[in-house]
Amino acid sequence: MALQNFEFCNPTRIVFGQETIKKLDDLIPATAKVLIIIGGGSVRKNRTLSEVEAALGNRQFAVFEGIEPNPTFETSMKAVEKIRQENFDFLLGVGGGSVMDATKFVAGAVHYKGDAWEIVTNGGSNITSVVPFGFVPTLPATGSEMNCGGVISRKSTNDKLPIHNDLLYPLFSILDPTKTYSLPKNQVANGVADAFVHIMEQYLTYPVHAAVPDRFAEGLLLTLIEEGPRTLNNPEDYEARANFIWAATMALNGLIGAGVPQDWATHMIGHELTILYGIDHGRTLSILLPSLMNEMRKDKHGKLVQYGRRVWELQGNDEEKIIDKAIAKTRAFFESLGIQTYLKDYDVDSSAVNKVVEQLNRHQLTALGEKGNISPEVARRIVEASL
Ligand code: NZQ
Ligand code: ZN
Repeated sequence: MALQNFEFCNPTRIVFGQETIKKLDDLIPATAKVLIIIGGGSVRKNRTLSEVEAALGNRQFAVFEGIEPNPTFETSMKAVEKIRQENFDFLLGVGGGSVMDATKFVAGAVHYKGDAWEIVTNGGSNITSVVPFGFVPTLPATGSEMNCGGVISRKSTNDKLPIHNDLLYPLFSILDPTKTYSLPKNQVANGVADAFVHIMEQYLTYPVHAAVPDRFAEGLLLTLIEEGPRTLNNPEDYEARANFIWAATMALNGLIGAGVPQDWATHMIGHELTILYGIDHGRTLSILLPSLMNEMRKDKHGKLVQYGRRVWELQGNDEEKIIDKAIAKTRAFFESLGIQTYLKDYDVDSSAVNKVVEQLNRHQLTALGEKGNISPEVARRIVEASL
């Protein structure tokens, strides 16, 4: 066993720190006609948008407002139409993961010939060109600011599906921690949980003696455990917020996943809970991960013990006990952020089990996990244990 073969290339420029939004002037071509894409208005209220507009100087620009949390195909297509009609040639997403993901989809859909929903059903593989785009993220969570993925929902058909394509790396992302101070507590908690589970999806598989990704992953988990509660309780503590933001970006920019097996079952099952019940993404993960850890404890034995010992400093020779404690510590961490970790806390009853299994079958998500052995029947047990 050894580090698996990999290629790693991340072309996104990160500009980090306070007072950095003005650098948009250097990052966007002077002749660009810019469409700024935003969500429901938080960036107006916290004045990020006005700073962005000022930084664009004399460039022509317009604002497309209304990307919803868990961004939809339907709304994104309205932006696509606007771009086609008015010939915008640069897109600037200003907002959370939903705005960033929608911007990626829109960038890939503008030149797409045919029904753009095919982009989603093909997982993004059929995108062949994009309108250039960059981001000013305002919610540390998804890692979308430095990766080539996105997740798009379609309300009319109950689908929430991921897209990936190397063309979907943003050209740049400007991370100014002060622009996240206005986040409500529940969104900060969601963000800490989402980043935590991104690391776990790439770390908690089976050991391949990959020292570099393992130690990076453990360092990032410890950072979230230390800085997460700090930034939740003191939103304007710059130091804590800065550490949280960089940890969230590093959690899903390809680095810690290079050379190791990856799981992603928690995410795929979680997406079904979001589209069916509207539960926030980070919360679906906090509900499912402890149950998945327990269900898959034989397959994940080696890494569960490593996680318990190195991240939670658990002692002793009884490995089953270490695993039990590691799972309990994980659940307690989510709960300490104010996230409830059972479906009943969200008024979801046992009828969810069959519905999730049906969705997984319909989406052909029938061989999840690092070994492809999380079948819909295994997922059924994971959801049952999460009730
Ligand atoms: O819509 P506005 O008014 O902007 O308000 C948003 C929204 O209501 C608000 N918000 C964002 N920044 C704020 C703020 N409120 C006050 N101050 C600020 N600075 O927060 C709410 C949630 O925003 P959203 O963008 O939906 O949250 P998040 O960043 O958690 O993104 C979640 C989406 O990302 C996908 C998820 O599935 C979900 O659709 N993911 C994307 C990934 C990727 N691209 O790699 C990976 C992830 O696993 C995830 O699946
Ligand atoms: Zn996630």
